[in-house]
Amino acid sequence: MSGPRKPPPRIVAIAGGKGGVGKSTIAANLALAIGRLGLRTVIVDADLGAANLHTMFGALHPERTLADFFDQRVADLAPLVTQVAPTVGLVAGTSRPGSANLAGIQRLRLLRAIGHLDTDVAILDVGAGTSFNVVDLVAAADHKLFVMTPSLPSLHNAYALMKACVHRVVRKLSHDETEQGLIDAALGAETKARTIPQLLGVLRPLDAYLADRIVDTLLRFGVGMVANLVGNDADVAALGRMSPLIYDHLLVHAPLVATLRRTGALAGGLRAGAGTLTSHADESYAVFARLASAIAGTDLARLRGEQRAALAQTLPLWVTRTAGEEQTP
Ligand SMILES: Nc1ncnc2c1ncn2[C@@H]1O[C@H](COP(=O)(O)OP(=O)(O)OP(=O)(O)O)[C@@H](O)[C@H]1O
Ligand SMILES: [Mg+2]
Repeated sequence: MSGPRKPPPRIVAIAGGKGGVGKSTIAANLALAIGRLGLRTVIVDADLGAANLHTMFGALHPERTLADFFDQRVADLAPLVTQVAPTVGLVAGTSRPGSANLAGIQRLRLLRAIGHLDTDVAILDVGAGTSFNVVDLVAAADHKLFVMTPSLPSLHNAYALMKACVHRVVRKLSHDETEQGLIDAALGAETKARTIPQLLGVLRPLDAYLADRIVDTLLRFGVGMVANLVGNDADVAALGRMSPLIYDHLLVHAPLVATLRRTGALAGGLRAGAGTLTSHADESYAVFARLASAIAGTDLARLRGEQRAALAQTLPLWVTRTAGEEQTP
């Protein structure tokens, strides 16, 4: 292919680690809210193996899904996009057995295809768990939203996923085997570096340049926490206390960017498309509108870093180095 390529769309991953915390509900409503800002938005159901976003938009049996992409019946995602609102398209996912365990090369193909989508914003519903599918999709996103509810398993799982993403990216920041060895040794059993600041304490005397690259990347990691199903202000305060903890352990800024109460409007139902999308009258409508504006107003060049802004052509370089690797992140 020749000629300059458009920069990848703004990529927003909706993650959480735990199942059933509201990721898909939030992904769908956020996509619609961003679309209402006049931005072209594509929502990708990347919950591989447990795809159900299409049902939220009223489609029980989508004609085309990501299975067509994985089976190479289509070369990119454009033919799979179905319009679900004036400026919002949906790429339906697949629940085919095995799709939850994509080979590294398929994961990279999917990431590249998302980067090549002709849209302003791509929203990824990445599903639960900390599989490589999830970790790589989240780590490559510009905005990483972690959905949490006021329950300990939800907090633990969200933190575990965040940590897995940070470790994955930190390992990929090495330029050669020596640097990779340094990071592995520092993160592994050879030292007592259990947190990123401790890791940097070990690394800096050995390779200050690598330590600086890690700090630079993590300080613009684009993380936000979304509190869902909160009942009262004590819940919000408890979730808010996660931010300093995350910063101390992972050197990542993770502000609470939105708070959603349990509401009948989002409670879902058995009928396809029933009760998961907010209408103007619901209090959560304004929450999604604010979150959409905050995301659209974030300087993408700053998030991507000067080097990537200058290149503005590709996904993060380290993404291309993830194919075929299956170590524990
Ligand atoms: N704020 C809310 N108020 C009321 N119900 C909610 C709220 N958020 C989500 N729900 C309901 O909780 C259920 C789970 O939500 P959802 O499917 O979005 O979670 P998920 O994290 O995507 O789950 P999975 O891990 O299975 O993909 C749904 O029935 C949804 O309608
Ligand atoms: Mg879901």
